[in-house]
Amino acid sequence: MTRLTRADLEKLPNYVPGRSPADLARELGIPEAIKLASNEVPYGPLPGVVEAVTEAATNAHRYPDMGVVALRHRLAELYEVDPDNVATGCGSVALAEILVKATCLPGDEVVFAWRSFEAYPIITATAGATSVMVPNTPEHGHDLEAMLAAITPKTRLMFVCNPNNPTGTFLREAELTAFLDRVPADVLVVLDEAYKEFVTDPEVPDALVTYGDRPNVVVLRTLSKAWGLAALRIGWLHASAEVAGAIRKCVTPFSTSAAAQAGAMAALAQADEMRRRVDLVIAERGRVTEGLRALGVDVPDSQANFVWLPLGDRSLPFAQACEQQGVIVRPFQGHGVRITIGTPAENDAMLTAAEKAL
Ligand SMILES: Cc1ncc(COP(=O)(O)O)c(C=O)c1O
Repeated sequence: MTRLTRADLEKLPNYVPGRSPADLARELGIPEAIKLASNEVPYGPLPGVVEAVTEAATNAHRYPDMGVVALRHRLAELYEVDPDNVATGCGSVALAEILVKATCLPGDEVVFAWRSFEAYPIITATAGATSVMVPNTPEHGHDLEAMLAAITPKTRLMFVCNPNNPTGTFLREAELTAFLDRVPADVLVVLDEAYKEFVTDPEVPDALVTYGDRPNVVVLRTLSKAWGLAALRIGWLHASAEVAGAIRKCVTPFSTSAAAQAGAMAALAQADEMRRRVDLVIAERGRVTEGLRALGVDVPDSQANFVWLPLGDRSLPFAQACEQQGVIVRPFQGHGVRITIGTPAENDAMLTAAEKAL
């Protein structure tokens, strides 16, 4: 048979999204499953978002603003940065992909911790670059010393996910600064802060504030999580003007849709409500962590909106047993299970299911 696509893609894993209540309804006949599998915030869109998106839909026959000017300026104002240093994309995962494309030629290397965000090896491979995956410490966090040792003349980019998905572990300022000081100036470090809004430890840095002036640091943020816009697909980054300009050049034209731009503007006007909702999640994070530890699981402290159960080979059976009880969690077979923090009632249901599943 004639091959029409790249042979190396056969070895590449598919991105596995969290299973949905519709999946459980179809496969198990469970009508209203609780979804704690994709690190979403459970309280619906922020006030004003639905109206803004509806209004944007009246112009659905027109292209959106390709320069994303209003939103970039709004983000710049909110985070006290220069709009020229900001770029937006179709989710921060698209920006991560474009960062690899903009830095790597075939054979170049991308270093990241493993386990970390499951898209990193996929976007690295599709860009034609090579993943260098550095095992996490026994405490499930980044092994920064080993990551530094993994840098070679071919290294072009490093992902550092803080807090880390899926383990919830985090890096404090002293160790991260010491690490960044030792990364060669021609290697781009992408600090992926998708879960920044859930951080409460005062020693975990805000990379925009602490490292925003470093030419080889990119800060990646998303509106999918705390800001509740996962379906609209909008992420943004802060980088040097050179890097941000290169990203704007490489980004798929018009990929920040008009609905995403309008929804994001409306959401950003609700910072207080966002914070109130995030604080609810943070309060539940402590309770869920303690509840799971009481069941005998060695859950590491999390600074994100999810917790990590290092169950190894028991991960898939555990997730399947939870699903039988109408609770969807996210297994990474052989490693662990990631459970998103939901509403108090959802978390209670999850703890009951987990007790039975264990
Ligand atoms: C660490 C991390 N980075 C980036 C993303 C991508 O988010 P989005 O593309 O929705 O902005 C995710 C999503 O789960 C994530 O966990």
